[in-house]
Order: sequence, then C-alpha cells, then structure tokens
Amino acid sequence: MSTKKILLTGGAGYIASHTAVEFIQQGYEVVLIDDFSKSDRTLLNGLEKITNTKIRFFEGDCRDEKFLDELFDREKITSVIHFAAYKSVNESVREPLLYYDNNLGSITTLLKSMKKFDVHEFIFSSSCTVYGQPDVIQVDESAPFKKAESPYGATKQMCERVLEDVTLANKNLKVISLRYFNPVGAHPSALIGEVPLGVPNNLVPYVTQTAIGLRQKLTAFGSDYNTPDGSCIRDFIHVVDLAQAHVMAAEKISQMPTNNEAFNLGTGDGVTVLELVRKFIEITGVKLNFEVAPRREGDIEKVYANPAKAKKLLGWQTKLSLEESLRDAWRWEQHLAANKK
Ligand code: UFG
Repeated sequence: MSTKKILLTGGAGYIASHTAVEFIQQGYEVVLIDDFSKSDRTLLNGLEKITNTKIRFFEGDCRDEKFLDELFDREKITSVIHFAAYKSVNESVREPLLYYDNNLGSITTLLKSMKKFDVHEFIFSSSCTVYGQPDVIQVDESAPFKKAESPYGATKQMCERVLEDVTLANKNLKVISLRYFNPVGAHPSALIGEVPLGVPNNLVPYVTQTAIGLRQKLTAFGSDYNTPDGSCIRDFIHVVDLAQAHVMAAEKISQMPTNNEAFNLGTGDGVTVLELVRKFIEITGVKLNFEVAPRREGDIEKVYANPAKAKKLLGWQTKLSLEESLRDAWRWEQHLAANKK
C-alpha cells in the first residue's frame, strides 16, 4: 500500500478512469472528482466493477475553491492529477471563452487550494497539441511551442506556462506535465472506454461507431499530404499504456532533475490514418464503409513522439500494439451497443 493519496480531477472521464484502475491495482488510495459537465456515471460504474472496490467520488467543479478547500482539508490528499478540462478542438473554436474560463480557471483554482493545504505534487494532462506542427516530426520535449492551432491548444500551452511560473515561485511544488499523443483503445475488460459526446471528432471512435452501424460512413480527411499514402500521420497510444505512465510519474515525481518537467507520452511510431483504417478492417473482419475526402481544416500533417525522456526518467514505455488498441476499442463499442439494447 502506497502512502500517497491521489486526487484525480475529471475522474469520470476517459483517461482518468483508466488511470484510476492502474493506481488502485498498484495499491494506491484514490479520490475522484468530476462535475459531470462532459461525463456521467457510466465509467465510474465500470471502474468499480473492474477494481471490485467502492470508488471515493465527489461531484464538484475544479473552479469552486470552497469545494476544493473542503476536499483537501478532509481527504489529506498528497498528489493531484489534473485531467479535468474541455477537450473538443471544434467546440473551442466556436466557444473560446468557455475553454479559457474552464481550462485556465480550474488549474489556477486547484493550485491555489493545493498551496493552502500544502499539497505539492501535481501531474498535468497536457497534449502534443502544444507543439503545433513541429519542425522535427518525431518531436521531443525541447521543441518550441508553435502558434496553437485552436483555443483548446492555446489553453494547454497556457496551463504549462502557469505551471512554469508557479514552480519558479515555489520550489516545493513538484510538477510533471504529460503530453499525450493520440490516446485510443479501451480497458481490455471492455467495462470502460471512451464515451464521445454526440458525433465523434476523433478518428477511432468514428471508426468503431461506423463499424457498429451508428454512422453511415467514415470520412478519411486528406489524400494529398506529404506522407506515404497521402493521409495524416499520428502516434496512436493505447489508453492503458498511457494510464500506467501516470503511476510511474507519481512514483518518481520527487526524484526529477527539476521541479517542472514535461514528458511525451507516445509509442514513437507514426501511423497514417489509412493504415489505421485498414488495420481495423483486417483485425476485426468488419466491413467498413469509408471514403477519402479533402483535408479537414486545422489538421497537422504529421507528428509522432520521441518518448526517450519518459523511458529514461520514468522507466516507462508502451507495451501494447496498435492491433490491441483497435481490438479493445472495438470490444468497447460492442459492449456499449449490447448495453443499449
Ligand atoms: N480523421 C479522419 N476522419 C475522422 C476523424 C479524424 O480522417 O472522422 C483524421 C484527422 O483528419 C487526423 C487524424 O484522423 O488526420 C486524427 O484525428 P483525431 O481527431 O483523432 O486526432 P487529432 O490528432 O486531430 O487530435 C488529437 C487530440 C486533440 C489534440 C490534437 C493535437 O484529439 O485533443 O491531437 O494535434 F489537440
């Protein structure tokens, strides 16, 4: 049993719920909070089934300082993992203020409350979006931040800037930002996975929803990129691999070279959109209705991770393959369909 007690904000969400499983299975005590603004109890129920435990969960908003103060006072939290954020690129373009208010308001309120209660370990859900289109395609953490492609991307850059400033001002505060590449897949139990709101924007949920018959046709955006088959290149990482990196970050946070470190979390392999679609058809045997269409606005041509720093300092690397990611995403979609009936 670890002496750490971990708070997961956005605990009812996709990545947090998978991360909670890994912490619980490693003997950590966890507390989850969520305001259910973009989620519901679905994943909490699955999480309780997988871990066979009653989850300590509280409903509330990370911008509510009183809620957080009471929580920190009562729960004796030692470390915070901040997942809670709005994450739709499209919505952020339409409603930028919603994104600046929520994503910046929640991190600053949390950090203020942590300071009052002397909680000094903070792990932040960042994104490879902070790099924009990098000059070196297999990007490492030293790459400069290019102009953000969306208000969503800008909030991730700004949050990292907030963390830089607060760790300069407070040497006791230890921060790790985890820059996720493209998280996909689901827990192999098929009891938790991604629950897209409305029509999915992301590739894999669109693929699985098309395969199950919820969508008529998958559109693969772009055939004239400077890539082997003309479609974009991404680094698709299994969500369970991603979740495990958080446990290693929590274990190693006090041994980092500085009190503010960032890590790429990706496989290190670039895969094209069309390769992924073909792989899905191959491993599931499902006929997938898809067409190649013009580029989607705002898409970056190619980016994948150089994950060497995470391997060196956290002792972390991915173990699961793209095939396993797609198999698990498909199992989850089938589980959702079976439970709707
Ligand atoms: N794509 C399709 N058809 C679809 C959906 C996506 O062809 O129906 C393509 C996109 O055009 C892109 C690739 O699949 O080339 C991946 O798109 P996703 O939307 O799944 O992922 P993105 O790489 O665009 O976005 C991800 C995260 C964002 C983050 C961004 C940073 O979802 O949170 O990376 O680049 F901001």
